[in-house]
Amino acid sequence: MLNFREEAVKLLKSLIEELTEEEISSLIEVPPSYEMGDYAFPVFRLAKVFRKAPPAIAEELVGKFEESPYFEKIENKGPYVNFFINKKKLTEVTLEEVKDKQDKYGSSDMGKGKTVIVEYSSPNIAKPFHIGHIRTTVIGNALYKIYSFLGYDTVAINHLGDYGTQFGMLISAIKKWGNLEEIEKDPINELLKLYVRFNAEAEEDEALRDEARYWFKELEEGNQEAYELWKWIREISLKEFNKVYDMLNIKFDSYAGESFYSDKMPAVIEELKEKNLLKESDGAYVVDLEEYGMPPALIIKSDGSTLYTTRDIAAAFYRKKTYDFYKNIYVVGAQQNLHFKSWIKIIELMGYDWANDCIHVNFGTVSLEDGTLSTRKGRVVFLEDVLNTAIKNTLEIINERNPNLENKEEVAKQVGIGAVIFQELFNQRIKDYVFSWDRTLSFDGETGPYVQYTHARISSLLDRGQFNEEDKVNYDLLSSEEEINIIRLLYNFPKVIIDAMEKNEPYIITRHLVEIAKAYNKFYNSCPIIIEDVELKKARLMLSYATKIVLKTGLGLLGIEAPERM
Ligand code: ARG
Repeated sequence: MLNFREEAVKLLKSLIEELTEEEISSLIEVPPSYEMGDYAFPVFRLAKVFRKAPPAIAEELVGKFEESPYFEKIENKGPYVNFFINKKKLTEVTLEEVKDKQDKYGSSDMGKGKTVIVEYSSPNIAKPFHIGHIRTTVIGNALYKIYSFLGYDTVAINHLGDYGTQFGMLISAIKKWGNLEEIEKDPINELLKLYVRFNAEAEEDEALRDEARYWFKELEEGNQEAYELWKWIREISLKEFNKVYDMLNIKFDSYAGESFYSDKMPAVIEELKEKNLLKESDGAYVVDLEEYGMPPALIIKSDGSTLYTTRDIAAAFYRKKTYDFYKNIYVVGAQQNLHFKSWIKIIELMGYDWANDCIHVNFGTVSLEDGTLSTRKGRVVFLEDVLNTAIKNTLEIINERNPNLENKEEVAKQVGIGAVIFQELFNQRIKDYVFSWDRTLSFDGETGPYVQYTHARISSLLDRGQFNEEDKVNYDLLSSEEEINIIRLLYNFPKVIIDAMEKNEPYIITRHLVEIAKAYNKFYNSCPIIIEDVELKKARLMLSYATKIVLKTGLGLLGIEAPERM
């Protein structure tokens, strides 16, 4: 697609010997309002060469530009050269491109041949999949889709927490008090109960701890009974988690969790030893990170067992070898900042510069309006229940607003779940936020239902107006401010996606979609569309159609569906 910014760079370059195209490009700014143009070039850097005051330089440049088909005017405002895009050209270029590319508009092959791993969700086996897991799950899925859309070879990994001493406790507890049939009926709750009971009884009876250690060791050494129980716990837990993944329409390419690396740790430990990075400390082995302002990283406990950190190091090596990644992304909460900083540092100290391609994409916490979430206090809110409530509430709203809607149940699912995802992806990752039902499910304001509703509204409008994609459109007719505002947003959509990818921030897309929906509704309310004037009607329908495509693609990148009717 025609890149107006690059055209501005070329024009500037033709007059400025002293700076390279890259330098010019990096200096160009986007002014805060369109009255000041679409792009502005500050001339301060030229003051030395031109030996003039900046405003005079800007004025001189402006006087020298050749006529350009891409800009309707180039002016100077003080020390800036301001470029105003030719709106007719912008309209034509944008709408033709959307029409031509359809659901590929905004996609790219910039990632061709590069593999990006997105590790996300990664719940712990035998533990509830609660609302706290929504963030990693939803942010990770969006990033996975964004990278794929930009042409990267993507791998979605669910690094299940399926290993560690707690499995020793679970195995002991099941052997003592467990009833397999009961557990199978309600796996997570029953396993959680057993876990809690085991811990409570172990308070009284130290021997239980030894028993748990014994079973974990047996598990590590391949004891058949222990292995079978562990495998069964993993399977029934995964079955529960998959209910949520199905609702969210999420799939993983790999479920290689912590246990997968159990036989890959010795080699790592060996290499750490060879490179003199392991230090003994009270029978345990650590890597000293004092020089980097971090506490020592525990690699082997004094009883010989390995740790979360050890498995993460082994996993990173395995992934490098298996996928030769360009980026290896971990979508994990900010509580684990130190954990990631420290093991990534260890890989760097081992002499591998790909350590820098391991990226911790962190995020803040989510809490409920009536207090925080805490597993310990037993106030677990299951994610599945949250999604089901969202669907139920949405169905009620639909029954009020549009009782005759076809496929009500299906739409309620798309909108209810979409609302939760949208809300989740509305803010910068690192911000903590409070989950609010009212805000999530509102049909007006900056919400998922609002954007979906705009999409559905356009869909029925196109039917009513008998829109035909093949119609030739006179783009000159789309010149009102309302129309141009939408077109600018549609034109910027591809860049917004790249921006979201570079910062690993899906919210950049979410916000852009809200802007598009707002701009469209403003247009809808002030410019009649299905009108006598056939040419104008065609043009406005085409604009609506392009808006619909972009909204749908954008929602899709966030993992949200776009129903045709609402
Ligand atoms: N299972 C962990 C938890 O629930 C998250 C795993 C994060 N991924 C990793 N490679 N350490 O806290």
